[in-house]
Amino acid sequence: DQNSLILAIESSCDETSVAVVKNGDIILSNIIATQINSHQRFGGVVPEVASRHHIEQITICIDQSLKQADVDKKDLDAVAVTYGPGLVGALLVGVSAAKAFAYANNLPLIPVNHMIGHIYAARFVKPIVFPSLALLVSGGHTELVYMPSENEFKIIGETRDDAAGEAYDKVGRVMGLKYPAGKAIDELAHEGQDTFHFPRAMEHEDNFDFSFSGLKSAFINTVHHADQINEELSKADLAASFQQSVVDVIVDKTVRACEQLDIKQLILAGGVAANRGLRDALDAKISEKLDDLDFVKAPLKLCGDNGAMIGAAGEMLMRHDQFADMTLNADPSLEF
Ligand code: KG4
Ligand code: ZN
Repeated sequence: DQNSLILAIESSCDETSVAVVKNGDIILSNIIATQINSHQRFGGVVPEVASRHHIEQITICIDQSLKQADVDKKDLDAVAVTYGPGLVGALLVGVSAAKAFAYANNLPLIPVNHMIGHIYAARFVKPIVFPSLALLVSGGHTELVYMPSENEFKIIGETRDDAAGEAYDKVGRVMGLKYPAGKAIDELAHEGQDTFHFPRAMEHEDNFDFSFSGLKSAFINTVHHADQINEELSKADLAASFQQSVVDVIVDKTVRACEQLDIKQLILAGGVAANRGLRDALDAKISEKLDDLDFVKAPLKLCGDNGAMIGAAGEMLMRHDQFADMTLNADPSLEF
């Protein structure tokens, strides 16, 4: 038959996730075991702790995923797995489990780049059409990726220092918020105003690159200075000001890229794509300036790391015969 069933495994950071995806765009199950509670007291992800949790969770997640999907192992067509970028020890758990499962069940193995996975989360909303541009904003990446066709990826702009999510998390730490702080800052921002007017680095430069470390420093200096003179700053205004700077720069550059490139679709994906301020601002700007452009936001629940997006990308790679053998290894700094 024409149907394909892929078991997809993701373990690049602090989520162990296993999904069963049908035909690349139907989620039969998507089990996500998060370890955030174990990392929070350290203020960030501790790689060694992450690996241990993945080891504990991986086989449970595989079993649950098959059970929830009501799929038998023998009906699967392939196993897809994230092999990079990410934490090497965390990636290795998923890669080893995928190899063992594929070998034991005589299934082909599909190696998936985590960032391609994030982009392909958009498939669960509607088909991706090409040429397409993806705005990828996550904890480790902030980049604009041009896709002439479904398996071609060209970075046209990226951050020169911190990723957007990283800036959110660092600023959150200074505000005393729990890791990861993106969602909490997003919520606070909606109760405040942009009263601080933090810098908007590189906004008017003639390229598609980003920089968030200056904004982060300006934010930290403002908070420390207030501490020294015992001045109480509004957390909501701090959050709103920070978020407005991030959103302004990202929206400006992305819209300019859309105007300059001949594309049919813009995709917003990655953990920070869950940001309400960013989603709303892009919606508004695109309907104002580029009304014909199809703008697809990854579903809220699939912005963060998950197995389903790996299955969606895996199905595409399978059609391009991009299989791996048992020598597949984790590649922590994998690029497109
Ligand atoms: O894609 P992701 O789950 O993991 C990586 O591949 O990095 O992204 C995680 C990042 C974290 O930095 C987190 O703070 C951020 O996404 N994040 C958000 C929001 N939700 C998650 N940032 C801003 N606003 C949000 N609503
Ligand atoms: Zn991610």
